[in-house]
Amino acid sequence: MNLYDRIPNNVNLSEDKKLQRALEKWLPNYLDWWREMGPEGFQDKDVWLRTAVDVGSEGWAHFDFVKMPEYRWGIFLQPPQPDAKVGFGDNCGRPAYQEVPGEFRNSLRRIIVTQGDTEPASVEQQRQLGKTCPSLYDLRNLFQVNVEEGRHLWAMVYLLHGYFGRDGRDEADALLERRSGNPDKPRILEAFNQPCDDWLNFFAFTMFTDRDGKYQLSALAESGFEPLARTCQFMLTEEAHHMFVGDTGLGRVVRRTAQLMKQGDVRELGGIPLDIIQKYINFWFSYSLDLFGGEISSNSADFFSAGLKGRYKEQEQYNEHLAANDVFTLLVVEDGQLKPREVSLRNALNEVLRGEYVKDCEKGLNRWNKILTDEGLMDRISLPNPRFHRHVGEYAGHHFDTAGNLITEEEFECRLSEWIPTMEDREYVRSLMHPVTEPGKIASWIAPPATGVKGKPFEFKYVRL
Ligand SMILES: [Fe+2]
Ligand SMILES: [Fe+2]
Repeated sequence: MNLYDRIPNNVNLSEDKKLQRALEKWLPNYLDWWREMGPEGFQDKDVWLRTAVDVGSEGWAHFDFVKMPEYRWGIFLQPPQPDAKVGFGDNCGRPAYQEVPGEFRNSLRRIIVTQGDTEPASVEQQRQLGKTCPSLYDLRNLFQVNVEEGRHLWAMVYLLHGYFGRDGRDEADALLERRSGNPDKPRILEAFNQPCDDWLNFFAFTMFTDRDGKYQLSALAESGFEPLARTCQFMLTEEAHHMFVGDTGLGRVVRRTAQLMKQGDVRELGGIPLDIIQKYINFWFSYSLDLFGGEISSNSADFFSAGLKGRYKEQEQYNEHLAANDVFTLLVVEDGQLKPREVSLRNALNEVLRGEYVKDCEKGLNRWNKILTDEGLMDRISLPNPRFHRHVGEYAGHHFDTAGNLITEEEFECRLSEWIPTMEDREYVRSLMHPVTEPGKIASWIAPPATGVKGKPFEFKYVRL
């Protein structure tokens, strides 16, 4: 582990002078991007952050006060497995690819660029949130997520620079040029162009959209392109915290709302009504489902055949890694009706991964509903049907209610304000967003966390303002 190099790394960067020089040239551009597009108004503040210092499962993180632009972004890969093999697809059992196989070069670059683009995008989406933090604890968590998304960008840029030559370098530059929500140079995926300008959005984003990241990274952690697999394996350990922030953040909002519901009118008491929380869930869940791609996809088949992108827990969960002759049945719209269609399993792997994701999201909903039960309420929140409000794949262009029934466009438009946050809902939520920065204090619309960070109490001064 070379922690004190200009670019901390565990890939012996100093032995590859050409790559080291290229990355050291990219570094100041990255820092310019961070200063321009990273958290606004907090760049010179000390934040109690964890920094990766090892890749072992225990004790890989060091906690200390750091100014964000001085964060030690680095390149960390899980150690190589001796005799690693391609674990699935047509080349299953052959030695893992240590270099990019020529015939898969474009596919692989596309996978890495698409993943890489989401990392800086989320930092851009969240850059104003610090100004309205509900507590110092939450402010610190926001910044932790932000610096780690920055590190994830490094992880992908390392692969582009290290394995894709000139076009890799161009792609790495372009990752710093696109901007979330900018109509002229938007980020690649639509969920990453949506504004994330209040904390309910932030928690829903880290719950649902970062969780898409978990499933994409898990599928890539199975990759036969070994540097990508090892990179993603370590990214996943950081990603777990982002989802924790979203899951517990939304849980704390639900708890506070439940407490206020027992006292009187939630709005009058400065809380977020349950139906608005439900609409935010509907919004981010449906946009995050789109990130998995079309239900029937030749790309997914190609990526699997090539051994580039596996299924979730491919090695752990499956005995058979060819998936060559199996079929998958899904519902598609035909003649104005939902009808089952059989497709080859390899063409349905986006849908298979999406199914794993949905199961995981349901667990989150169960946790939040348990909070409602614990608070003595009968009210429930739920996930909308995965067909609802889709912009990608088989269901895009059709209209479904939140139960998944096919409905007319007129009915959909007419009822949309029941399902998706309206302008008024968003304005109401924004009206609650006042910064609370006194240690130990918390905003009216959210309950405090059960515990602080890494043994520190909630009252700890996590950010020195
Ligand atoms: Fe990430
Ligand atoms: Fe993340």
